[in-house]
Amino acid sequence: MDESKLLIIGANGQLGSALKEKYPLATALNSNELDITNLSNLQKTINWQNFLTIINAAAYTNVDGAETTTGRKIAWQVNASGPRNLANIATKHNLTLIHISTDYVFDGVEENHLENETFSPLNVYGQSKAAGDIAVSLTSKQYTLRTSWVIGQGKNFVKTMLELASKNIEPKVVSDQIGRLTFTSELVRAIDHLLENNPSYGTYNVSNTGESTSWSDITRTIFKLANVNLKVTDTTTAEYFKDKPGVAPRPLNSTLDLTKIHNTGFKSNTWHDDLLSYIKQENAK
Ligand SMILES: NC(=O)c1ccc[n+]([C@@H]2O[C@H](COP(=O)([O-])OP(=O)(O)OC[C@H]3O[C@@H](n4cnc5c(N)ncnc54)[C@H](OP(=O)(O)O)[C@@H]3O)[C@@H](O)[C@H]2O)c1
Repeated sequence: MDESKLLIIGANGQLGSALKEKYPLATALNSNELDITNLSNLQKTINWQNFLTIINAAAYTNVDGAETTTGRKIAWQVNASGPRNLANIATKHNLTLIHISTDYVFDGVEENHLENETFSPLNVYGQSKAAGDIAVSLTSKQYTLRTSWVIGQGKNFVKTMLELASKNIEPKVVSDQIGRLTFTSELVRAIDHLLENNPSYGTYNVSNTGESTSWSDITRTIFKLANVNLKVTDTTTAEYFKDKPGVAPRPLNSTLDLTKIHNTGFKSNTWHDDLLSYIKQENAK
């Protein structure tokens, strides 16, 4: 794969930052430099002949924000119209498009999500992402990586729990949402694997492997690995959100079946191993 012909979009996000580190010779543009919602601008600003592959790491990821009047529009622009624009460009210039989806396109009733499960999003973010997936599927050279519970550089669950621990706060954490973490390092490895090995185009589930676990048990593991001696109390999603009106409903089961990407030769790292490396890195800062 020729790195110099790679365009990374949404380069300042959790995944975008990890991609920039992996591919230093790629062109990496943040939201100020390239706005995916404006097709005519996209067509004018970039000389698409210079590229073979686009990685779209851009998204509106504020799940609760997407439930507001303003947020709903932004979510649809960035998560649905944006990927539609990129798919349009990929088709016109014969480019490969890598796009990132989410388990939030499902209602979480199935305990184990396969790539071909019918969309059933519970919230506006999931609805807008499902529309983006459909738009991307219309260009022929595309890999959509469907992922869950992403952890990288930036605001995320592990950092929030470590911050609470640093203030000696004993958190109440939901115990009825079940899934697996996905470190951005794992997503980058999967993207690199797909680009290097070129299996059939389409959608691939990607998360870390290991036991599917609740957020509260993940918090206990975070505290154990970080040598934090604080109590974690279980709560339910309904209880946690009871006095928080306007919060988006969330799927209870987020586990993604990894068989399809494993069948292409990809070997997943466990979330436990990557969590340990992540905590060591955070402690070294
Ligand atoms: N985070 C999760 O737990 C999670 C779970 C499942 C799937 N995913 C998916 O994984 C992908 C990467 O997520 P992430 O956690 O890395 O997201 P992130 O940290 O929120 O980064 C998203 C980036 O997109 C940029 N962006 C927003 N609107 C844009 C626009 N109109 N044009 C260009 N760039 C724009 C943002 O820039 P600004 O900061 O300037 O707005 C931000 O840097 C997304 O597709 C997301 O839906 C995430």
